[in-house]
Amino acid sequence: MDQEIKQRIETLKKEKDAVILAHYYVDGEVQEIADYVGDSYYLAELATTVPQKTIIFCGVSFMGESAKILSPEKTVIMADRSADCPMAHMVEVEKIREVRKEYPEVAVVCYVNSMAEIKAESDVCVTSSNALKIVKKLPNKDIFFIPDENLGRFIAKKVPEKHFIFNDGFCHVHKSIHAEDVKKAKELHPEAVVLAHPECTGDVLELADFVGSTSQIIDYATNSDEKVFLICTEMGVFYELLQKNPEKKFFSVGHRQFCPNMKKIHLDSVLRALENPEEEVEMDEAMRQRAVGPLARMLELAK
Ligand code: 13P
Ligand code: SF4
Repeated sequence: MDQEIKQRIETLKKEKDAVILAHYYVDGEVQEIADYVGDSYYLAELATTVPQKTIIFCGVSFMGESAKILSPEKTVIMADRSADCPMAHMVEVEKIREVRKEYPEVAVVCYVNSMAEIKAESDVCVTSSNALKIVKKLPNKDIFFIPDENLGRFIAKKVPEKHFIFNDGFCHVHKSIHAEDVKKAKELHPEAVVLAHPECTGDVLELADFVGSTSQIIDYATNSDEKVFLICTEMGVFYELLQKNPEKKFFSVGHRQFCPNMKKIHLDSVLRALENPEEEVEMDEAMRQRAVGPLARMLELAK
C-alpha cells in the first residue's frame, strides 16, 4: 500500500513540477520521500531557490507562509492545512506597537515561528540557527524578542551588552522537557552528551552540552566522536540522527517530545496535497509585501 502511495507521489510530482520540502519533526516516512529535509532556516531559504513551480510543504503553517512570502510566484501547498504551531500566535500586534512606543529605538526581532501579520510588524526575522548572529549584527541596543521567551532569553545571555524585552510565548513540546527528566536520563546514561533545542526552558539548557537548531543538533551528533546522546527536542530528529549515525545511540528524556501538529502529516497527506490544490497557501499581497522585508533581511544577515 505504502509502495503504491509512494509511486503515485513520484508520478504526480513530475506531472505537476512539484518539490517536497519537509521539516525534521515530521514522521520518518515523510522525510524518506521528501526531496529536501531541513530546519526552518534551510527550508525558508530553499523556497527561494528550488526551480519547481509548486512546493508541497510538510511542516506547520508559518513555514508554508514564509515560503509563499519569499516566493509569491510559486504555488505552495500544505500537506496538512490544519498543522499549525501554537507559538506562532502567541504575540499580539497591539503589544508590538506598545513596545515600539515605549522604546522608539527598539528592533523587533521575530522568530520565524510566527504568523505573517506578526512578521509584517517586525524589523527582522530569525530562526534558532541564526538568531545570535543576526542580533549581534543589529545596531539597536533595545531588542524586543518575539514570540518565544526561551529562545529570547538564551540569546540575551550571550549578548549582555543589549537590553532585551521578552514576550511570554513558548513551545509546549519543548516546555514539556523538564530538567528533572534530563537529570534522571543522565543517571541512566552517565556517558551521554546532552543536546538541546533553544526552545527548551533555561534550566534544561543549563544541563546541555550543546544547544542548537534541529540541523545543528544533527550535525553536532554526526561530527562528534561520542557515541551516546540525550536529545532534548522533538522526536522527529531521531530519523535523520539514525540515518546518519546508525552505530550511535540516541535517547529521549521524556514521553511528550512529540509535536502533535507536525505529526498530522503522513504519506497520504502528501498524496492528497498533490492531488488537491485546495490546500494552497493564499496570502493577501499587501500583507505579503509588509512581511517580506523582515524575512529578506534575515536571509541577508544570516549569510
Ligand atoms: P528549527 O527548525 O529552527 O530547529 O526550529 C524548530 C521548530 O520548532 C520548528 O517548529
Ligand atoms: Fe511549534 Fe513547538 Fe511544534 Fe515547533 S515543535 S511547530 S515550535 S509547537
